[in-house]
Amino acid sequence: MTNVPKKLFIKTYGCQMNVYDSERMAETLAGQGYETTQDQSEADMVLLNTCHIREKAAEKLYSDLGRIKPLKVANPDLKIAVAGCVAQAEGEEIVKRAPMVDLVVGPQSYHRLPEMEARIQTGKRALDTDFPEDDKFEVMKSRPKVARAPAAFLTIQEGCDKFCAFCVVPYTRGAEVSRPADRIIDEARGLVENGVREVTLLGQNVNAYHGCEGGLAGLCSQLSQIDGLERIRYTTSHPNDMDDALIAAHGDNPKLMPYLHLPVQSGSDRILKAMNRKHTAEEYLRIIERIRAARPDILLTSDFIVGFPGETDADFEDTMALVREVNYGMAYSFKYSVRPGTPAAEKPELPLAVMDERLQRLQALLKEQQVAAQEGMVGKTTTVLFEKRGRTPGQWGGKSEHLHAVHVEAEGELRGEIHKVEILNAMTNSLTGRIIG
Ligand code: SAH
Ligand code: SF4
Ligand code: F3S
Repeated sequence: MTNVPKKLFIKTYGCQMNVYDSERMAETLAGQGYETTQDQSEADMVLLNTCHIREKAAEKLYSDLGRIKPLKVANPDLKIAVAGCVAQAEGEEIVKRAPMVDLVVGPQSYHRLPEMEARIQTGKRALDTDFPEDDKFEVMKSRPKVARAPAAFLTIQEGCDKFCAFCVVPYTRGAEVSRPADRIIDEARGLVENGVREVTLLGQNVNAYHGCEGGLAGLCSQLSQIDGLERIRYTTSHPNDMDDALIAAHGDNPKLMPYLHLPVQSGSDRILKAMNRKHTAEEYLRIIERIRAARPDILLTSDFIVGFPGETDADFEDTMALVREVNYGMAYSFKYSVRPGTPAAEKPELPLAVMDERLQRLQALLKEQQVAAQEGMVGKTTTVLFEKRGRTPGQWGGKSEHLHAVHVEAEGELRGEIHKVEILNAMTNSLTGRIIG
């Protein structure tokens, strides 16, 4: 083997957990002599890290593969790898349908990448979509000591046992598994030594974390003892796992940022039941009330699905009413998308025009609330973790405590610094301010 590094190009779809996994895969493949590139045309390996959450996921993969094909024709040594949730759900189909794909690996098998890479170098193909017993992160190469961006993701929990009627995640990511707290603390320490000031703890159901005493609140409390780690966030949470200790932590733990993504999906009890969410709208609202009692300025966000099978106009109005009552700082909303193999796929779908109209109305309301929340920041003081220079010279950008993008005019190097900022102006997707401390 020569010592010239091979080039790895990764394209990542889907949730933050895929973003984290892509980093870990790149670090693992570094052991096989790869360094990452942003330029697909010079790649020795193209890795597509896919998402299966809504329809068209597989189509997107095949059209990406179509675009890569000329590269493979020009360079027959180019290796094509497919990872992520489409790989898990449709691995064998991909192998059959796309002969140009050399390697298919499901999310729970990433620690086997080195052997798989060695295999494809001998001209064979490799497929692994097992759910092995071993925790991939304990087997994967430990994280290298390299300079990192001030804000990092850290996966602490994977998989899901909730089986919402519309969702593929329990099938693509497997059963819920929590990583041991001591490993997470070690990883967080390593990140902080390399420049990280803020971690976002990730899991499909992050607040179901049970890798240490006290669950997620206990882990946050241990993490907040790390000097130099200034901010902690977590996502995504399920309302039924918002326990008393975690709610209290939002009032007591100053490193826990006042931002919470707590998806409710619908405001109708009938639909929540059909979705198998296992809570009512009222129960969700009471949880929100308790969280706000612990941390009055918390910014709340959610996910919504409109047009779930059987959703009537009255059900949709219940969703609109819940949104008005909560008053979100931001939220994501999607049209229901039928996923083969899930219980909801058995039920008749609503007409597309009905879903479109509902989605537009919901998004208009959510947008109004987002704009109001941003405008509500004007005149207030917050802290900002600065991450990068702005597009115009003399400008710096970072994130506020409430995860708003904030820009200030400033000279010098602010990367990784946290400053007090007075917010002066609200724009559509960001705020501007001035440093006051
Ligand atoms: N574990 C998280 C979310 C995982 S998926 C939770 O329980 O909230 C992210 C979001 O995608 C979901 O919150 C849901 O709003 C949306 N989603 C999942 N499956 C979907 C489907 N079949 N159709 C439309 N949206 C879907
Ligand atoms: Fe999917 Fe529900 Fe699990 Fe979230 S809680 S990942 S929506 S099954
Ligand atoms: Fe998508 Fe898998 Fe994440 S389906 S949302 S990449 S868990």
